[in-house]
Amino acid sequence: MTVHHLRGGGTSLLLEDGVTPRFLHWGAALDPQVDLSGLSALLGRPVPHSAPDEPLVQSLFPQAAEGWRLRPALSGLRVDGPNDPIRLSHHQTRWTERGCEVDYTAPATGLHVTVHLDLDEHGVLTQGASLTNTGSSLYAVDRLALTLPLPMRAREVLDLTGRWCRERHPQRTTLGLGTWSRESRHGRTGHDGVTLLHVGTPGFGFGHGEVWAVHLGWSGDSDTWVERDPSGFAQLGVAELLSPGEVVLAPGESYATPTAYAVYSAWGMDEASQALHAHLRARSSHPSRPRPVTLNTWEAVYFDHRLDRLTELADAAASVGVERFVLDDGWFGGRRHDRAGLGDWTVSAQVWPDGLTPLIDAVTSRGMEFGLWVEPEMVNLDSDLARAHPDWLLAPPETIPIAWRHQHVLDLAHPEVFAHILDRLDALLRDHDIAYLKWDHNRDLVQAAHGRAPGVHAQTLAAYRLLDELRSRHPRVEIESCASGGARVDLGIIERTDRVWASDTLDPIERQTIQRWTAALLPPELIGAHIGSEQSHTTGRRASLGFRCVTAFFGHLGIEADLTAMSPVDRNRIAVTVAEHKALRPLLHSGLVVRLDEVDEGAMAHGVIAHDRTEAVFAWVQLTTAAAEVPGRLRLPGLDPSRTYAVRELHLGGGATGAQISGPAWRQPGREIEVPGALLVSLGLQLPVLHPEQGIVLHCREV
Ligand code: DGJ
Repeated sequence: MTVHHLRGGGTSLLLEDGVTPRFLHWGAALDPQVDLSGLSALLGRPVPHSAPDEPLVQSLFPQAAEGWRLRPALSGLRVDGPNDPIRLSHHQTRWTERGCEVDYTAPATGLHVTVHLDLDEHGVLTQGASLTNTGSSLYAVDRLALTLPLPMRAREVLDLTGRWCRERHPQRTTLGLGTWSRESRHGRTGHDGVTLLHVGTPGFGFGHGEVWAVHLGWSGDSDTWVERDPSGFAQLGVAELLSPGEVVLAPGESYATPTAYAVYSAWGMDEASQALHAHLRARSSHPSRPRPVTLNTWEAVYFDHRLDRLTELADAAASVGVERFVLDDGWFGGRRHDRAGLGDWTVSAQVWPDGLTPLIDAVTSRGMEFGLWVEPEMVNLDSDLARAHPDWLLAPPETIPIAWRHQHVLDLAHPEVFAHILDRLDALLRDHDIAYLKWDHNRDLVQAAHGRAPGVHAQTLAAYRLLDELRSRHPRVEIESCASGGARVDLGIIERTDRVWASDTLDPIERQTIQRWTAALLPPELIGAHIGSEQSHTTGRRASLGFRCVTAFFGHLGIEADLTAMSPVDRNRIAVTVAEHKALRPLLHSGLVVRLDEVDEGAMAHGVIAHDRTEAVFAWVQLTTAAAEVPGRLRLPGLDPSRTYAVRELHLGGGATGAQISGPAWRQPGREIEVPGALLVSLGLQLPVLHPEQGIVLHCREV
């Protein structure tokens, strides 16, 4: 039997050809020259009592007929029978340099499955599968899962969950025998989307411990799980979550899974995230020009759209260095509030009697791009569209599903609906100088039905088609994925958009956690991070300008506050922050993201390090009061101990306030100090005593 050795990043994947291709190893990289000839003898499992009489293997396509007792890869129903539990046999494997494509079939079942996987140079393993109904009757797909092996030492799970304005908070649990499954049933990724499920050796952190992580690139319903059973196997799994009858294949039809993205790291969660970031950055569609500093009008004016008011805001935006001005909700149809107008994608003559062009001209003449908010998949019943086409709802016939933010969903998989919405958006982009769409999706799908069957699957694919078609017609327009904040953050949507809106909360305390964990999957340049108002509109909490600026600094920076109501001093402080960001964004948006483990309780630290280690930016934030009267030292990982660095504290948003009389001595406003990298890496620098809800940002550059 041949063992195939795939290598990429710090990862090796060993697969053995045989009756069925099976996993031998997914983990630490092995030398390509290592002799694998004795591997079967080394790793072959004994046959225990009260178990199948053949040694069990962990197949690329696990089936119950192999004696496998964890979740099988395929479950479904031949609608007219027979449904004998037949085993699909391995038919053939096509190997490439980086992966393989494996076919499974059994004529009696009328099913043909192909599983493909690829390990890229960054260590990101992508996997997908397709199922074709080669029989002569209908086949209803229940689940087509993508699975990966885990060693027994992977015992701890960390995944993300959340709610509106509190997305992507971590939760940690110990994996016993059984299944830890995270199902998302929102018809969109969900505020509580798992984002990245990490499983690791006990106590793993950002920079230590072995970690295996997986993500499903899909914006509909999904299941992500990890399981162990007494047979001694453990597996990671992902699958689209299908409702009964949602995918029924006619003879000759196929179903394809979304793509699974999996990474192994020998050095904690950061290395896994860095591999994903590198994978994303290598795409030809990855944004390549500097991320334009954005002003979004939402929290500044809400639905109060007036040309003079917004021109004043555009003036203020340009004066602080904004490069993209985005007009949010409220510009179209009868949309004077959130109960009407969705679906009517024509400029409101009531608020924009001369159309949007005067505002667009005001924006572009001030050197900024213009962006516009849309919510294409949605409709208000109080709209011309719903009145004309009440049957265009994504709902069972004669049914109006429960409203959510007073709105409903259009059945985008219906060809006429699709054509209408495409036409409206296309016309908008053709008729105006629009560089950017903020594409929102403000509700879960409830009772989603398409063609008398559950409709989330078809809706998700139709939304993807709509985005793909618009992008091919308007390749220069960038798109943001927003869904009541961060409820559509996944690599399916990221294939078709240029950034995500991480959350509707701009409260920096909340944002610190949300952005930290959104970065588990996405590099900072894809994460929208805005400086909000002093008093958060979503939590009511007040935050200093310094802390708001420190928090937004690393992502795709924006401002979402009424700049015209701010004092000249604060506006100037924002301008300084914007200028610092512009100077550092080449590094912030290309470097290695690190999140530091070694920080006192009540504080957090993170940074971005240039690949050649010539430069880095670190943030340390004091979230609550600290237990110690003086915090510890901050060691700066990733710098080169053999080089010397000039270290400077950035003065963002007017700086941080402290609770101390003096020191530390290195902290001289506006001054750089030169420090050997060896000291920064091993000893670190003494932190100041900050007030809670304050932070500092340090820039290190090689001298
Ligand atoms: C929800 C978004 O997340 C907000 O930023 C804003 O665009 C509103 N929708 C507009 O309705």
